[in-house]
Amino acid sequence: MQITRESFEEIIEGKTKLMVPKKSITDKVPPKKPAFFNPKAKLTRDFSIIAYGAFLKNFEGPKIFLEGLSGIGARGIRVANELKTDNVILNDLNPSGLELAKCSGKLNDLQNVEFSENEICRFFSQYSQKGSRASIVDIDPFGSPAQFFDCGLRATMHGGILSCTATDLQVLNGLFQNACARKYGGIPIRTEYGNEIAIRLILGCLRMVAGRLGLEIIPLYVESNFHYYRIYVKVNKRPDQEVNLGYITHCKNCGHRKIVFEKINSCELCESQNNNAGLLWIGKIFDKNFVEEMILKISELNVDKSCEKALKKCLAESEMPGIYFTLDEIASKMKSSPPKLENAIKNLQNKGYLSSPTSFSPTGFRTNANIKEIIKTFSD
Ligand SMILES: C[S@@+](CC[C@H](N)C(=O)[O-])C[C@H]1O[C@@H](n2cnc3c(N)ncnc32)[C@H](O)[C@@H]1O
Ligand SMILES: [Zn+2]
Repeated sequence: MQITRESFEEIIEGKTKLMVPKKSITDKVPPKKPAFFNPKAKLTRDFSIIAYGAFLKNFEGPKIFLEGLSGIGARGIRVANELKTDNVILNDLNPSGLELAKCSGKLNDLQNVEFSENEICRFFSQYSQKGSRASIVDIDPFGSPAQFFDCGLRATMHGGILSCTATDLQVLNGLFQNACARKYGGIPIRTEYGNEIAIRLILGCLRMVAGRLGLEIIPLYVESNFHYYRIYVKVNKRPDQEVNLGYITHCKNCGHRKIVFEKINSCELCESQNNNAGLLWIGKIFDKNFVEEMILKISELNVDKSCEKALKKCLAESEMPGIYFTLDEIASKMKSSPPKLENAIKNLQNKGYLSSPTSFSPTGFRTNANIKEIIKTFSD
């Protein structure tokens, strides 16, 4: 493939020069040919740079990044250029994507990048032996990442990070329940907080695979967006001792919700029939120290201004009980207009409950009060 000025263009993302297809900038939906690049995904790549930067700061082993599905190398080339790494290896089946990644490597004068044209699992399996695993492994597919969990985990160093994107939102949000059960081993339910259920389904599936391999996963940071979900987990070599798989039980009548180890069929507040989502991850989804490190890292990087605000929300919710509420659903139950988020949180705190905003929804909040207690607090 010839990289001509007519069809390709040099852009800057973060601190990095990238050679991209012009059509990926001008077309509404970025085309897959000659290679896929989504300029709108800059924000999620910014979060990656922050998360990997925070991790590498305290990591003493070899700093190796494996990108299984690199496209034109937007994420990987940025990692090589913006973070201190020993070796960055970009893999994709599409040779045109790799050509562009190589070109961007030259534009940034990078010496620490290698390229591989292979099927992702074949690529990862070259790094799955002790001593050759990577400190950071990324899986960024079109659709579900679940089929790549085995090979991705095997290529991740013990104590390293595995990050994955999922873009099969309709499956994870409950439009195709059977497909979700088949791919992720758990069933979603359609609720206002469906994005949190989705993230927990992805983590739950990864946890089941990790368990088989004698590995433990610790979620460090997760991201929910209109177009994708993304998770970052630490991978440790030890069988997981915690019971972190279970269900979310939800009453469609009164809106009561709870994280539980076993399905519960009747609502403990109104005795109506519950719906149960799961099996899914019921443990923590943010690591407070890690999110703090991410916030500290921002000042060294060139990332979107909104990152800090979003991460501060993650920090506030990192130790909060699972499953958030939205102001709109509470207001519709109370048949009144919703209070301001700040006031709602203060109100709950003044009554002695824990409460915080959540990065999952601009009108969402977390609390240990149940829905009856929330409605009572807002009515007083
Ligand atoms: C969503 S894109 C990756 C985007 C990229 N990570 C970025 O940040 O711009 C998915 C990529 O996976 C590649 N791909 C799909 N199936 C693959 C497979 N089995 N092995 C290797 N690459 C594959 C496609 O060629 C495509 O470039
Ligand atoms: Zn109920």
